[in-house]
Amino acid sequence: MKINKELIIYVIIIILLIIGIITSVLSLQNQNTTINNTQKKIKKLKGNIKDIDFINEMYINRYIKYQKNNPDLDIEDIITRVNIGLDKKYYTNTKSSKYLNKNYILTNKYTYLKEDYVPENLEYLDTTYSRNGMMLVKEAKKQLELMITAAKNENIKIRVISSYRSYKYQVQLYNRYIEEDGKDLADTYSARPGFSEHQTGLCIDIDDSNIDYNQFDKSPSYKWMQNNAHLFGYIERYPKGKEEITGYTYESWHYRYVGKKIAKYIKKHNITFDEYYVKFIENKEE
Ligand code: DAL
Ligand code: ZN
Repeated sequence: MKINKELIIYVIIIILLIIGIITSVLSLQNQNTTINNTQKKIKKLKGNIKDIDFINEMYINRYIKYQKNNPDLDIEDIITRVNIGLDKKYYTNTKSSKYLNKNYILTNKYTYLKEDYVPENLEYLDTTYSRNGMMLVKEAKKQLELMITAAKNENIKIRVISSYRSYKYQVQLYNRYIEEDGKDLADTYSARPGFSEHQTGLCIDIDDSNIDYNQFDKSPSYKWMQNNAHLFGYIERYPKGKEEITGYTYESWHYRYVGKKIAKYIKKHNITFDEYYVKFIENKEE
């Protein structure tokens, strides 16, 4: 009887071992199949384009769905737009901004700054070229002053009418716009608190101190900015024709400091900062 009991235990252990081995092999095979499927999907999606290094394998099903809904877009645009978040509604799927205090920090309708974020190195602007009490990050201010001087030398006037705005101030502004225009319309032209680029301390709204800022693109100053802003590291942030990507109506008066290298690339390739960010910064810069 004793021997039989031991035998039974041995047999049970051996059976359990065999089950364990089979389960492990099956699960490994399963994993490999999933990886292979993903690779196949990516290959199919990419087609002949080999140099898209900003593809995110986690988003593969989103790319496929977005491509189905937007058959006219090329694959690079599909990947770019899904990486920005444009396959989801504005203000859904949001995440907090990375790269705090860098020139290439991003805010848009999917990326926000926390309530207590105040950029480092804020400095007051001189009232000879700005409204009272305006502030910008030191480097952006320095380049702004060089830009304004260069413009002045060509008889072009540029005046700053808004720059750094705190989270609290954006709350007041946004609520006022909602009262005036309702939430849906306000959302087309005003950022919700936390989502405004003005909280980065890296952007400016300008006019020529003559005509209303809404008409800025009718002024010689706008033309000058078109030709020269990038030389000082500034870009037009919400251009005409890019509304769907930026999420905002065209703002001829709003310029963002990103540094000369990025500004020159954006100008040359006629893309938005949102696109530049997912292609060259996100998950690449430290
Ligand atoms: N008008 C811009 C989008 C802002 O509110 O930040
Ligand atoms: Zn602005």
